[in-house]
Amino acid sequence: MKKVIVTGGSGFIGSNLIKFLIKNNYFVINIDKNTYSKNSYILKNINKKKYIFHKLDINNKKEVLKILKKNKPSAIFNLAAETHVDRSIDSPNQFIHSNIYGVFNLLEAIREYSRKIKLIHISTDEVYGDIKDKSRSSENDPYNPSSPYSASKASSDHLIMSYVRTFDVDACISNCCNNYGPGQFPEKLIPTLIYNILNNRPLPIYGKGVNSREWIFVEDHCRGLLAILKKGKKGESYNIGTGINVNNLNLTKMLLNIVRNKKIKIGNNVKIKFVKDRPGHDLRYALNSNKIKKKLKWKPLKTFKSGLIETFLWYQSNYKFFNNFSKKLFFKRLGLKR
Ligand SMILES: NC(=O)c1ccc[n+]([C@@H]2O[C@H](COP(=O)([O-])OP(=O)(O)OC[C@H]3O[C@@H](n4cnc5c(N)ncnc54)[C@H](O)[C@@H]3O)[C@@H](O)[C@H]2O)c1
Repeated sequence: MKKVIVTGGSGFIGSNLIKFLIKNNYFVINIDKNTYSKNSYILKNINKKKYIFHKLDINNKKEVLKILKKNKPSAIFNLAAETHVDRSIDSPNQFIHSNIYGVFNLLEAIREYSRKIKLIHISTDEVYGDIKDKSRSSENDPYNPSSPYSASKASSDHLIMSYVRTFDVDACISNCCNNYGPGQFPEKLIPTLIYNILNNRPLPIYGKGVNSREWIFVEDHCRGLLAILKKGKKGESYNIGTGINVNNLNLTKMLLNIVRNKKIKIGNNVKIKFVKDRPGHDLRYALNSNKIKKKLKWKPLKTFKSGLIETFLWYQSNYKFFNNFSKKLFFKRLGLKR
């Protein structure tokens, strides 16, 4: 059985990736510092014979190196990061620590380990910045990040490519669009909307709700990452997207329609409420994902509507998931500082 490391494996995408990899017969070592956004819900019934957890900051090069030497994994998926744009506006420090220094230390540990190991670094569509016309970003497009979050991810992507070129580290980068699905931290848009629908609360939409995002069901992202592990070429970046862009207002309306069609009773307070916009809020991200489709034969399987229905039903029947987090964390408005 092949051993791999997943960093940030206690977060939303990381925990779904671990579940997916174990289903595909991998042994997974999860390295996670367990920040505010970790959750053990998705991993609670994980097969312990195929899984170990180390509570560790990826900046701790010495310990990371020890884990590498002891386990000799064939690959590392790096998902450890600070991820919430609003938080990066309020306190960018932590983003520099985890997303830039963390990646630097991981690269240094890999360099010192010196055996053949493949690094798959999970980046984002946000590094390409605001795509205001109808076009879609391709892998060779210049980076133009707008927030401290996307700037920190862009910096780590550049560092990684420099280690490929200079030190011959075997690394690939994936740039994925917005994920949704089971187990996402409740301050992100879709779980916030679902929580508020289930609790008779208004549905807060930034600005006029015209900001458009490309959406992918988290398991489709995980299949893309596995394709990169198996067939991705050293020094290459791969966009992972669905081509499905929806603005926040229409997404909220779609969710409300799902609820109505399922004849779920909702309270009178469940109404769209426009709230102050995020400073520097990008209008649109959109990826051209032809490269991964052509070269690695990957394509998304889930339609947005079916994925959204599945996601709503998951949160409804796993309502206990929300109890893992302090309510203060997801009711407090963040990211308004200028
Ligand atoms: N969520 C999305 O839509 C999306 C889209 C594209 C790319 N990404 C990228 O995917 C990755 C995972 O995103 P997510 O949505 O699952 O985020 P998340 O916030 O749910 O999870 C991040 C995890 O990383 C851990 N972590 C943070 N700093 C760490 C450190 N220094 N050392 C060890 N662990 C640390 C946290 O404890 C948490 O468990 C991130 O790199 C993010 O940039 C996310």
